[in-house]
Amino acid sequence: MTDITKTGKIKVLVSREELKAKTEELAKRITKDYEGKDLLLVGVLKGGFMFMADLCRAIDLPLSVDFISVSSYGNSTVSSGVVRILKDIDYDITGKHVLIVEDLIDTGLTLTYLKDLFMAKHCASVKICTILDKPSRRKVNLEVDYQGIIIPDKFVIGYGLDYAEKYRNLPDVCVIEE
Ligand code: IMP
Ligand code: MG
Repeated sequence: MTDITKTGKIKVLVSREELKAKTEELAKRITKDYEGKDLLLVGVLKGGFMFMADLCRAIDLPLSVDFISVSSYGNSTVSSGVVRILKDIDYDITGKHVLIVEDLIDTGLTLTYLKDLFMAKHCASVKICTILDKPSRRKVNLEVDYQGIIIPDKFVIGYGLDYAEKYRNLPDVCVIEE
């Protein structure tokens, strides 16, 4: 596989500095809003792992962390609309304040599915936090409680996001140039 990071075919869309600043801003709001509440962050794997690591360290509360792994795209770059649970959360979430931590909201299908799934398990609340958002691509009406950086309708890689399972480790969010 050609390494597109070496061929000059990628361009930074959101820099690591912008990601850090937005993460800190969201974490401040979360710290204030969840004060005194039993907060559980649920990261959506795999893409959400990097944002989760940065976000949880910036929140000044005694929170818990869990992960769920879903697959909605396979190895394609377009959503099939079918969400498959590859790994479920480990703990009982009854009574907890669940905050779903996502890398990017595109069609909104994944999070609509996950939000309904968690709500059915009788937690105290279910809210959504994403570092990136492509609202122009939305297929369903979804309330995003903590919205990160709005990006245009372009396929992005880096900061957790992959193209065919590669490039998740890029520190900036990049676009592939044609
Ligand atoms: P949604 O269900 O369409 O909202 O998208 C679900 C997931 O697909 C996102 O959380 C990402 O993990 C992945 N995804 C969507 N757009 C992109 C992209 O541009 N690059 C890489 N992954 C993406
Ligand atoms: Mg994701």
